[in-house]
Amino acid sequence: MDPVDTTGLAEPFLRTQLESLGLAVEYVRAEGDTLYRRGDDGGELPVLDLVGGFGATILGHHHPEVTALAKELLAAQVPVHAQFSLHPYAEAVARRLNDILHRETGDPGPYRAVFANSGAEAVEAAVKHAELDRGSKAAALRARIDESVARARRAVRDGARLSETARRLAEGGDFEALAAAVGDANRARAEEPPVLLALTGGFHGKLVGSVQLTHNPVVREPFRALATPCRFVPAGDPEALAAVIAEERRTLLGLSVSDLGVSSGTDSGGTDPSVSGGVVDVVEHRLPRLCALVLEPVQGEGGVRPLTAGYLREVQRICAEADCPIVVDEVQSGMGRTGTFLAGSAVGLRGDYYVLAKSLGGGLAKAAVMLVHHSRHRPEFELLHSSTYAKDAFSTLIAARTLDLLEADGGALYRRAAERGERILTRLAGVRDDFKDVVVDVRGRGLMIGLELRDQADSSSPVLRELSRADVLGYAAAGYLLHAHALRVFPTASATTTLRIEPSVRITDAQIDQAETGLRALCELLRAQDGERLLSR
Ligand code: F0G
Repeated sequence: MDPVDTTGLAEPFLRTQLESLGLAVEYVRAEGDTLYRRGDDGGELPVLDLVGGFGATILGHHHPEVTALAKELLAAQVPVHAQFSLHPYAEAVARRLNDILHRETGDPGPYRAVFANSGAEAVEAAVKHAELDRGSKAAALRARIDESVARARRAVRDGARLSETARRLAEGGDFEALAAAVGDANRARAEEPPVLLALTGGFHGKLVGSVQLTHNPVVREPFRALATPCRFVPAGDPEALAAVIAEERRTLLGLSVSDLGVSSGTDSGGTDPSVSGGVVDVVEHRLPRLCALVLEPVQGEGGVRPLTAGYLREVQRICAEADCPIVVDEVQSGMGRTGTFLAGSAVGLRGDYYVLAKSLGGGLAKAAVMLVHHSRHRPEFELLHSSTYAKDAFSTLIAARTLDLLEADGGALYRRAAERGERILTRLAGVRDDFKDVVVDVRGRGLMIGLELRDQADSSSPVLRELSRADVLGYAAAGYLLHAHALRVFPTASATTTLRIEPSVRITDAQIDQAETGLRALCELLRAQDGERLLSR
């Protein structure tokens, strides 16, 4: 038997992958948009960080005020663990978020907040809550139906007769045959699993539940059996959403009693229990089956793809009609990155739920939150769901300071995100125009930008061909940019030819120049089909 390799214990396979792509470097310090890597001589080499913690550093690494606050909190021995006690700082964050949501969406809310430690955890909290709400509504409907059956039974005893439809359902039997048929039909329908909807290209995390909402089959499929699979609808196609919702529509049967001999045939469920005589009829009630539709206003990990206002308007109309709550995942796009606090508010999106994480912790703390509109809020959720570190004073106070910084000077940071983003986008559009043969597209909003490289599967360079076919061209480009231009860029994991550019609001003109120079050099090299240089270190 071969001896077990004990040289690498912390994700050693990932390390070998990084090594093969030239990405196995150690960063020893971070400040603003710069990460310092350890050089061969042990000294520090600055690298311009355009990855920004996958969107976690809207304020940059170690924003001086955030870092100073963290030091103060530790010095003051602020309790990190005081579960099941009052958390006024969490209340303050929730209040601040409500003010911002109200301002941006026009919805006065309030939204109730449940805190978490990571994006995936907060997404799962939102989905769990939505399922609690759906299940409770379904149970209430079944209870109402049971009452309607009891009422009809009394009416029949008092001389009511069965309608044509009711007699058919009872297959010629009496009222008890009808009640049994209604019960059987409802049991089968109510036992069907709930329906979760998400969009193609979406990313919502990688935990057992949230990975089922993440479209990329490579990361989702192996774990399919562990959670209810969701239905993916094509992003940008409202008719497809409407069709799926229509397909998933189910009704439960109830009974109505009418003294006019006319079936009400409606969903109202309201009949007068005092009526005697009359006609017992069968009515259908829409079963709450749709747990939620989860979406990102700007799809991040799936290739930086903003959803349009027109599409989102239709999505909202369709979901409102079907009573399907919308979970707006602003984990990556939120916190001002696209020029407004919520990316969705710029395109008129209003959610029943919002999820925030990443930059909420100011680039320092692990903070996340899900917000649920009061009209759907279930108080009992707060006793059913918990997480040891969530809502702790340290992370919540850091989140509060982060919100203060974003909101300061009438939202100067949002304007700066839009301005910096516009500048980068314009420069990259210039690169695209000069290199149409190697750049497919440049897109994004604010500081959430993607540059899509052309696939090189048919390249004249065997190296480029091989990299492209192995789906690692973007990573090899990242290795080249790191070593040749001290630039840290990564492709989006579900669209690996798109380089993601998500710096902080602190990025300088000189740094934008550096990024453009590096990307132009990359394009030159691809145009020259120089695979060897892409891999040379
Ligand atoms: N939702 C969105 C929109 C995300 O982009 C991410 C993570 C998550 C949820 C999960 O958050 O990692 O804190 O659990 N996105 C990273 C990325 C991984 O590469 O874009 P998490």
